[in-house]
Amino acid sequence: MTTEQREKNYKALYDSMKALIDNERDWIANMANVSSLLYHHLENVNWVGFYLMRDGELVLGPFQGKPACIRIEVGSGVCGTAVKEKKAIIVDDVDQFKGHIACDTDSKSEIVIPLVKNGEIIGVLDIDSPLLNNFNEVDKIYLEKMVRYLIETSNI
Ligand code: SME
Repeated sequence: MTTEQREKNYKALYDSMKALIDNERDWIANMANVSSLLYHHLENVNWVGFYLMRDGELVLGPFQGKPACIRIEVGSGVCGTAVKEKKAIIVDDVDQFKGHIACDTDSKSEIVIPLVKNGEIIGVLDIDSPLLNNFNEVDKIYLEKMVRYLIETSNI
């Protein structure tokens, strides 16, 4: 997929997300619908979901895909590392990421976007792909924009 096609897809997804969540403030409902939207409209993804900070660790939230590990410590796996380092992480090949937590053996690459409210990390958005190298900076830019909107729009 070209960068232009990828951007066009995300712009359409951003508008669809707004239509889905603009009239609803419930944080769980909005995360559930955003995970479904991304799961069904991003190409080559096998898992899309949220992990939320609960008493200092990440706990599984709304998601689409196979059942996944429930709790992840800060600093563990890609999700916990994104929280510890307070930044989005793109993993081109999960087998090359030390400490990667394999919930679904189909997953080959992954992107994790921290959810930030008032400067604090309140969770992450995690997306897995069955293809190597499936995510790049375009995904990061647009997914960060989408989670910012989701957080601003919802009562957390
Ligand atoms: N692979 C993640 C764990 C969550 S699953 O991908 C759904 C990680 O290493 O943090």
